[in-house]
Amino acid sequence: MVMNTPIVIDKLLEDPNKFDPAWFHFIKLKSGKYTPSINKAKSREEAIFSWNWTHEQFFGKRVLDIGCNDGLHSIMAEQWGATEVIAIDCFERKNTRFIIDHFDSKVKYYVMDICDREQMKSLGKFDTIIFCGVFYHLIDPLAAIFNIRDLLINNGGTMLFESWANSDTLSNMEFIAETHHQAPVDKSCWWIPSNVFLEQFLAKIGFKLSYAGFGDGPYSSRWSAHALYNDKTEIMNKNMGR
Ligand SMILES: C[S@@+](CC[C@H](N)C(=O)[O-])C[C@H]1O[C@@H](n2cnc3c(N)ncnc32)[C@H](O)[C@@H]1O
Repeated sequence: MVMNTPIVIDKLLEDPNKFDPAWFHFIKLKSGKYTPSINKAKSREEAIFSWNWTHEQFFGKRVLDIGCNDGLHSIMAEQWGATEVIAIDCFERKNTRFIIDHFDSKVKYYVMDICDREQMKSLGKFDTIIFCGVFYHLIDPLAAIFNIRDLLINNGGTMLFESWANSDTLSNMEFIAETHHQAPVDKSCWWIPSNVFLEQFLAKIGFKLSYAGFGDGPYSSRWSAHALYNDKTEIMNKNMGR
């Protein structure tokens, strides 16, 4: 989907007294104007299509959006027919509250850490979990993936995964030191996994990929996948004391 219409930013949303210092998502408001996203090079709506998300992954589903930031994906899940949407982020954001109000949305937004097992268990089970742009920010990505696996319903639960990645043919995940040649400006990035690593990592934890793609997102060097949860591996992990 290519956007041909001129993009008009809603400058009122840049008021530092009412909003957070930076908007992450590029969200089309009811007025037709857009939030002043730091990522406006390419629309996030466009990105969602490049990740091959389908309405079926949301319609009639209970959805969790992890690291929701301004809430674009949560609002979209609701508009695509999700019965309930829970949005979590490790930070409280005025922008997210504004977006939920703006769309008269029923999305429930909580400040929570995906690595916190007890907090996560309190949310119940989900049909679809959005886990985009968060993996490489986590101090404990393994704990997060196990938590996500356990939050998904058995046989049919789907994680919509997206991460910064490199296209190395080796299965590895590099620690991003300040001096790393790919170190981003954003110092909250800890890791850069290879796409081969991500495939093998998710498989070992019990996910079966129905789709995987490299590149083509709103940024370069990104890997996205639809990962279906398969409960047979859960039995294996229980035997291993997990
Ligand atoms: C790069 S943004 C991605 C936003 C959105 N998911 C997307 O794909 O457009 C990463 C988000 O993850 C959140 N985050 C980082 N660590 C987290 C954690 N441990 N638990 C929950 N959210 C976290 C950050 O606050 C931020 O909003």
